[in-house]
This record gives sequence, structure tokens and C-alpha cells, in this order.
Amino acid sequence: MKILLTGGAGYIGSHVATALVSSGHDVVCFDNLSNSDAAVMDRLEAITGTAIPLVEGDIRDRDAMRYVLQEYGAEAVIHFAGLKAVGESVAEPIKYYDNNVRGTLTLLEAMADCDVHTLVFSSSATVYGQPQYLPLDENHPTSATNPYGRTKLMIEEMLRDVAAADSKWRIAILRYFNPVGAHDSGLIGENPNGIPNNLMPFISRVAAGRLAELSVFGDDYDTPDGTGVRDYIHVVDLAEGHVAALEAVAKSGQPISTWNLGTGQGYSVLEMVEAFERINDVSVPYRIAPRRDGDVASCFASPERAARELGWKANRDLDAMCASSWRFERMLATRNAD
Ligand code: NAD
Ligand code: WQD
Repeated sequence: MKILLTGGAGYIGSHVATALVSSGHDVVCFDNLSNSDAAVMDRLEAITGTAIPLVEGDIRDRDAMRYVLQEYGAEAVIHFAGLKAVGESVAEPIKYYDNNVRGTLTLLEAMADCDVHTLVFSSSATVYGQPQYLPLDENHPTSATNPYGRTKLMIEEMLRDVAAADSKWRIAILRYFNPVGAHDSGLIGENPNGIPNNLMPFISRVAAGRLAELSVFGDDYDTPDGTGVRDYIHVVDLAEGHVAALEAVAKSGQPISTWNLGTGQGYSVLEMVEAFERINDVSVPYRIAPRRDGDVASCFASPERAARELGWKANRDLDAMCASSWRFERMLATRNAD
């Protein structure tokens, strides 16, 4: 298939691009580069041996979306483009509703204009809110605790209405748990601007000496060691989940489906630190800090529906996640030294 990736130059989009090319699909990326760098395209070419086109533009620009869908003859869209910083969404909600919700609406309009009705959407486990039971399956009630999460919920609801109104649509909603790690080549990975919000990039930067120490947000949760437990999933497993979901939805009789992409296994913050230090033979100094507002004690997936319906499951372990994150961090250090 010919597939358009909105936000394709970003962390998850770039990994999905490599997985799609290795499965024999044609890919075009569309990105406004607000949180990525066009140089990633050269690295994707080095990994895949294929020059993947990047069209620079904004998903809120309907003409630009129509142009790229038609010019490249896209048959399906995987929609990653969006803003994702929880704290920023609390401070600047309008920016999040505009970029994420209006952007998705404009994308849907352009897809309908161009008669493209197959869509895979990047949702998030954040839509489960405070877990009422664990593991979280797709039937768990949804709620939002911040504007970012609310944009994901609103988009999910929009997609359900669109699929109900016109049986031509084939839509997959993928709820990611905590994507971490990097491609084995070390050429692409997660490189947030400024101080990272997420645990794994923070740990990598402490190990590299770019940050002094990790603050562990709370050690008095109701978890085995008191620190927060999450379902970390290797980004390459996550990418393979997209290929499986796209292929399933394209031939499905159902207009819309929702799948969790997680491992089903939770690890605590201190387990993450220990694994990173052990596998990479580095030191990650940390101190216990107060809880972070809005954090839950534990969050992990039931990956059963994806296993049953997509024939997909995550198979890379925590050591592989930590080793690949560190390989990418060292690659960044080499690049910065050049
Ligand atoms: P990312 O910031 O690395 O990638 C998003 C890409 O979208 C960036 O390249 C950015 O430049 C682009 N973009 C943003 N707004 C745009 C716009 N208006 N027009 C065109 N391009 C635009 O983030 P990521 O981690 O790769 O996340 C991809 C998607 O997955 C996002 O929708 C995010 O909400 C979702 N998600 C991410 C995580 C995570 O922990 N990384 C977890 C759950 C869901
Ligand atoms: C993981 C654990 C922290 C940083 C967030 C978003 C969610 C989703 C994924 C997009 C928690 C602890 C973290 C640090 C720490 N994104 N931690 N010190 O909070 O599960 O999810 O990213 O959809 O919407 O909310 O991930 O990586 O921020 O935190 O102790 O410096 O690490 O308290 O227990 P989270 P995270």
C-alpha cells in the first residue's frame, strides 16, 4: 500500500516508516517539523535503503493535505502528528485543541475529499484516566485528567461518529502505553527538546552526564517498591504493531476497531534505573522527590485483543529497551561532537 504518515519525522512515525518499508509498503511523510528535524530522512534512507519523501506542511492546512494525498496516491493514512506534552497542554490548552483536534478534523476532511478512508490513529493509554482495575483492557471506562488526554478522547469520539456515518471508513485506534527505546542502528530515537518530561530520555541524559540526577517522583505508591509502575514498550515492537493494525483494518469488515499496544508487564521507576545501569554498565544517580501531580500508581495493558485479532505481540524485553536507548544517546553525543 501507499501510506501517508502525518508526523512521520517524529519519534514513533520514523520507526513506523522503517517497519512499513521493510514490509514492502510505500511511504510518504508529512510533517511541519515543529518537534522534529528533516535530517531524520537521511537516516531513514541509511536504514531502509529507500529515499522516503518528506513533504513539509501542517495538518491544519486542508489544501496541503489534499495535495499530498493526491500527489502520492495515498491509500491509507497513519496519523501521528500532534502535540504531546501533558504539562504544556495544561498551560496552553487552546494550542492543543487547535493542533490536535482541529488538525485531525482537517485531515478527515481532506481524506474524504480525496476518497481515502483508511486511517490508523495514535491514541494513548492516557484515555483510561485513573485505572479502576488492572490490566487495562479496551473496555475499561475512559476519562481525561488533562487537556492533552482530552484531545485524544475527543478525537476518538470524532472517529467513532465518522465511522458510524459512512461505512466506507476503516479506522484503527491504537492506544499506546509507554513507548521507549530506539532502532537497533542507533540512528533514530527519541530526542526531546529541552528537559525531558518522560522517564527513559531523562535516565539516558543523566547517564550521559547531560543532567545531574534523576528525580524519582514518589516512593510511597501502593506498588512493590513504592515507585510508579508503567508498561514500557519497545518502539520497534510498537512500530510492528502499526503494520499489523494497518493490514488488519484495510481488509476488515468493521469500520472502526480499538487496540491497546503494550506488553502487559509493568516495571517500576527503580526497576528501570537498575536495568539501565546493569545492561549499559553506567551510573544513574537519583534522589526521591515528591509525587508528580496527576500521576497514577500503576498502569499496564491487557494486550490480549491485539494478540488475538492482529496476531501481534511485543517481544523485545526491558534490556533491549535500555540498550537501544543508550546506543541512540551515544550516537547523539558523537553527532554533537562533530
Ligand atoms: P513526536 O513529537 O516525536 O512526533 C510528532 C510529530 O508530529 C513531530 O514530528 C511534529 O513535528 C509533528 N507535528 C506536530 N503537529 C503537527 C502539525 N500540526 N502538522 C504537521 N506535523 C505536526 O511525538 P511521538 O512520540 O512520535 O508521538 C506521535 C503520536 O503518538 C502523537 O500523536 C502522540 O500524542 C502519540 N503518543 C505518543 C506517546 C509517547 O509516549 N511518545 C504515547 C502515546 C501516544
Ligand atoms: C513514567 C514513570 C513517573 C520522569 C506520559 C504521559 C502519557 C503518555 C506517555 C502520551 C512515572 C516517573 C518520570 C522523571 C520519574 N504520553 N518519572 N521521574 O507519566 O506514564 O505517561 O507519557 O500519550 O500521556 O502522561 O510517563 O515517562 O512521564 O513517567 O520518576 O523525571 O516515571 O512518575 O511513574 P507517564 P513518564
